[in-house]
Amino acid sequence: MKERGSFGSKLGIVLATAGSAVGLGNVWRFPYMTGENGGAAFILVYIVCILLLGIPGMIGEFVVGRYAQTNAARAYDILSRGKPWKLVGYLGILTGTIILGFYAVVAGWCLEYLLASIAGQLQGDAEAVKNYFATFSSNPLKPVIWGVAFILVTHVVVIFGVRKGIERASKWLMPILLILLLVLVVASCLLPNAMEGVRFLFEPDFSKVNRRVFLDALGQAFFSLSLGTACLCTYASYFSKTTNLLRSAGQIALLDTVIAILSGLMIFPAAFSVGVNPDSGPSLIFITLPNVFQQAFGGFPFAGYLISVMFYALLVFAALTSTISMHEIGTAFFTEEFHLPRMKSAWIPTFIASVLCVFCSLSVGAYDIQVLGLPLMDFCDMLTADYMLPLGGFFTCMFVGWYIPKKIVHTEFTNEGQFNHRFFNTYLFAVRYVCPIAIMLVFLHQLGVI
Ligand code: TRP
Repeated sequence: MKERGSFGSKLGIVLATAGSAVGLGNVWRFPYMTGENGGAAFILVYIVCILLLGIPGMIGEFVVGRYAQTNAARAYDILSRGKPWKLVGYLGILTGTIILGFYAVVAGWCLEYLLASIAGQLQGDAEAVKNYFATFSSNPLKPVIWGVAFILVTHVVVIFGVRKGIERASKWLMPILLILLLVLVVASCLLPNAMEGVRFLFEPDFSKVNRRVFLDALGQAFFSLSLGTACLCTYASYFSKTTNLLRSAGQIALLDTVIAILSGLMIFPAAFSVGVNPDSGPSLIFITLPNVFQQAFGGFPFAGYLISVMFYALLVFAALTSTISMHEIGTAFFTEEFHLPRMKSAWIPTFIASVLCVFCSLSVGAYDIQVLGLPLMDFCDMLTADYMLPLGGFFTCMFVGWYIPKKIVHTEFTNEGQFNHRFFNTYLFAVRYVCPIAIMLVFLHQLGVI
C-alpha cells in the first residue's frame, strides 16, 4: 500500500489544525452570536464550553485518529470490535460535507467582496452599500459561481496532499491572517468612541443569559473547534506518534479563542464608533462593516480602502484553511476506501458540496427554497450546529470514554507513559461524565424537556 501522508513538523500540526479551527466561525459567526446574545455574558459561557467540552472532545477525536492512522470511518471501525461505531465516522463525513456546502456560500461572498473592495466598488453612501449586497445576493448566478469557485480552490489545495497542500497552505495563510487581524484590531480600537465597543465585549450583562445562550455557545464552540465531524480525527491521523495530544489541543483551543475575541475587538469598536447596532446578525460583515469602514475612515479614503481590502482578505484566508479541512474528511475517506488516487477521489466531495452550495446559495438569494420553513442555507446551519455536531461529539465522548479499552486511550493520551499522567484521570472523568451529560442537558433543554 502507498505510504500515507503526514504532517512534517510540530508547527505544521498546530498551524494546520488551528487553520481548520480558525475560520468564518471566528471572524464572522462568533461576533454576531456575541452581538445577539448580549456580549460578554455569552463569551463567558462560551469559554466554559471550550474548557469543559471542547478540549476533552478534541482530545477524544485525536485519540481515535492518531491511534488508527486512517480515515474517519475506518478509524472508528478499527476500534469498534464489530460494533457499528463506524456510523459515527460516517455521520462525521456527512456533516463535514454538508458544512462545506453552505460554508462555501459565505466564503464565496467574501471572495466577491474582496475583489469588489480591491476594485473600489464598496464605496458610496450607506444606501449604496446596502443595495450592493441586495443586488449581489439576489443575482441568480454570481453568488453561485463564487461559492463553487471557492470549493474548486479548496479542491486544488487538497489534491496536493497533506504536506505539500494542507500544511504548506496553513503555514503561509495563518501567520498572514494573524498579522491582518492585529492591524485591523488596532485600527478599530483607535477610532473615537471605540471604548463603548470594548465595554460591550467585556462587561457581562447576565440578564441576557437564557436557554438560547447555552445552546448557541455550545453549538458555536463545537463549530469553532471543528468538533463533532471527524475533521480533527482525520487530521490527527496525520499527526506523528510523538505529538503531545493534550498540549496540542490546548494550544489550538487557545489560538482559536484568542482569534475569536480579537475578531470581536476588530468589529465592535468600529461598529460602536459609528453608532451601528452590534446585533445585526449575519449581515454584519457584508452590510454593516463596509459602511463602518467608510464612515470611520471618512477623512482618509485610502485608509478606508486599505482596511476593507485587508478585512476581506482576512475572511477569505480564514475560510480557506477551514474549507480545506472539511474537504479532507471526505477526500481521505474516498481515497482510502475506494482505492482511488487523490486526484480523483477529491472530486467526490467537491461535486457533492458544490451541488449543495448551489441550492443553499439560491435559497438565500434568487429563489425561495425552504425546508421546514427555513431557507435551505439556514436549515443546513441549524441542522449541523444544533444537532449533528453535538451528536457527533456526544458519541465520540461515549466511544472514547466508555467503549475503547482504557489502555489504548491511556497510551495515546500519555504517548506510552511519557507525559500527562497526572491529567489522565481528570481527562477520563471529563469524557465519561462531564461532556456527555452537558451535551445531553443542553439538548434536552432545547427540546423543552427540561
Ligand atoms: N472551525 C471552522 C470555523 O470556525 C469551521 C470548520 C472547519 C468546521 N472544519 C469544520 C466546522 C468541521 C465543523 C466541522 O469556521
